[in-house]
Amino acid sequence: MKSHGVWVYTTRIVYKKLLVVALVVGIGGFAVLQTRTDKTAEPRQTNSALSTKPAPKQSVQVVLPGAKPIPALEENYVQPASLWVVVSKVHPLTDAQYVPSNLAVPAVKTRTDKSTAEQSLRADIEPDAVALFKAAQAAGHDVMLASGYRSYEQQQVYFTNYSRLYGEEAANKFSARPGQSEHQTGLAFDVSLTSRACYLEVCFGETEAGKWFAAHSYEYGFILRYPADKIDITQYQYEPWHFRYVGRDLARALHESNLTLDEAYPYLQTALAELKNRGEVK
Ligand code: DAL
Ligand code: ZN
Repeated sequence: MKSHGVWVYTTRIVYKKLLVVALVVGIGGFAVLQTRTDKTAEPRQTNSALSTKPAPKQSVQVVLPGAKPIPALEENYVQPASLWVVVSKVHPLTDAQYVPSNLAVPAVKTRTDKSTAEQSLRADIEPDAVALFKAAQAAGHDVMLASGYRSYEQQQVYFTNYSRLYGEEAANKFSARPGQSEHQTGLAFDVSLTSRACYLEVCFGETEAGKWFAAHSYEYGFILRYPADKIDITQYQYEPWHFRYVGRDLARALHESNLTLDEAYPYLQTALAELKNRGEVK
């Protein structure tokens, strides 16, 4: 009995030890397995997380000196239909016969003795044009849109007439040659007092309406395109009546940086190059 009892006791100890060993091996093995599983699962989890939740796309920014960065428009600024197209003596329209596809007379006071075409702007900028003219009216200014879209042929008529009157060189200081006018894009207009006092004259800039437009047009996406202190850059005389739509973001950035659209051109080209590089714009 005793020896049997000893055997039983010994057997129990052996069993206990085996159990402990088994437990240790089991737990250890599970831990190793678990670690391996985690290691192999890790990249899969990351990959699946990437495929279901892509990181937000970093938009291309335009950073004008002294201005808050703005998101770049995803379009080709060389195209005449781009809101950011630069049209100047240096950068004529790439399609001289370009006609915007969506011209419409905006719901603002216009010079009704002009053609329907010349009373028109691009329809997509009408909401901002209406907001601008309403705000001007609310501020007490009786103004009208004196000249909006001008076709290549219409611009040719104006430029030829001014050239006959003043000579070509003098005319080209305030009138663009056909194919070089922003008016052809449907994004620019000349504003005047309804009374036509200081009509397309520098003194319009001294009127309360002229001052108001210079100070507030950017809030609605428009810029004073030919400022008095940038004549060497724009290559046109001071035109306090001529406003150009570029959208609210760029208008504000130009206002903050005090740059003309001509001066912003390299920055816009840099953004465009990056958009092309990413394949986001052709
Ligand atoms: N007055 C501007 C320069 C134009 O004719 O387009
Ligand atoms: Zn003009």
